[in-house]
Amino acid sequence: MSSVATQARPAEAPTSRVLDVQHLDVRLGRFHLLHDVSFSIDKGERVGLIGESGSGKSLTSLALLGLLPDDARVSGSIRLAGVDADLVGARERDLAAVRGRDVAMVFQEPMTALNPTMRVGDQVAEAITMHARRGGPDRRAARARAVELLDQVGLPDPRDAARAYPHQLSGGQRQRVVLAIALANDPALLVCDEPTTALDVTVQARVLDLIVRGVTARDSAMLFITHDLSVVATVCERVLVMYGGRVVEAGPVHEVFRRPRHRYTQGLLAASDLDVAVPGGRLPTIRGTVPPAGEFPDGCVFRSRCGHATEVCASDPEWTGPHPGEGYACHHPADEERVP
Ligand SMILES: Nc1ncnc2c1ncn2[C@@H]1O[C@H](COP(=O)(O)OP(=O)(O)OP(=O)(O)O)[C@@H](O)[C@H]1O
Ligand code: SF4
Ligand SMILES: [Mg+2]
Repeated sequence: MSSVATQARPAEAPTSRVLDVQHLDVRLGRFHLLHDVSFSIDKGERVGLIGESGSGKSLTSLALLGLLPDDARVSGSIRLAGVDADLVGARERDLAAVRGRDVAMVFQEPMTALNPTMRVGDQVAEAITMHARRGGPDRRAARARAVELLDQVGLPDPRDAARAYPHQLSGGQRQRVVLAIALANDPALLVCDEPTTALDVTVQARVLDLIVRGVTARDSAMLFITHDLSVVATVCERVLVMYGGRVVEAGPVHEVFRRPRHRYTQGLLAASDLDVAVPGGRLPTIRGTVPPAGEFPDGCVFRSRCGHATEVCASDPEWTGPHPGEGYACHHPADEERVP
């Protein structure tokens, strides 16, 4: 992943909050799926969101775009800079105005994000005109801007590419089109949910590099969901670790990855391929599997799989840390540094 642009923000750059999520709680049917999720992201900041399958990562990202199912019961608050209304409880009309303009998303599967019956250039142009304020670009200018954007995301012959339909492009090219649409209005926040997982290994690094270049050029903040911890280590400044619909640990990537405190984070890192030299060449795994929704234990949700659990773990561990963006919730935190 050495080709990834990792240019950090200058230390003296003034920061301002782009996203503030407070006590986000989501229930669907009889399932309580997100519990008291709080975190924030500053301008230009890149935050990784990690956790095993079923931890609640995608639900969190969908909540940020107001894309949870209609019957979801949501409480807490999601505030975006420049948007007056709280996204929790906002009307669909207001959410549609925010989506693609202030916050945009790149999903895992580009085909689901694209309209198969429309030329990709028109889809990028539509993303521009949809949010154009009075005096914004007309259709013709939007088409020209679409070609520019397709060029920026590395599509060869962007003029020809603009005339193509999604099925005429490769998976990697389609994901570049999705990225062009997501970046079209210079969103303050880009949410990426495993954006390269469905792509051929050979194009993953290139698309990741384009995403990072795209957000860096716009000083956009990014929430990046991935199972690949080495990508988080390369691309992100901060990380949130989720399990059982909760943020169990958060902090600067280099600190959390060097000295994880929550036993779940410790297990996740040990099971990752971040460590180059693994004795015996095999990665350890976290024992057991993630329980289905509704079957997590009371108290610490990880205790059914944790080798350090004691009786006290049957009670909820409190958050230890200066704020929700830094700390952990574990009764018996790890204290050892990892030796990569
Ligand atoms: N529409 C839904 N109705 C009921 N349960 C749901 C719904 N969507 C998600 N869930 C459940 O919520 C939990 C969290 O799901 P989510 O998709 O957020 O996980 P994830 O962390 O993104 O996992 P993955 O890494 O596999 O993408 C899972 O137990 C999932 O089964
Ligand atoms: S609170 Fe207890 S069960 Fe949960 S991770 Fe920490 S030690 Fe393990
Ligand atoms: Mg997911």
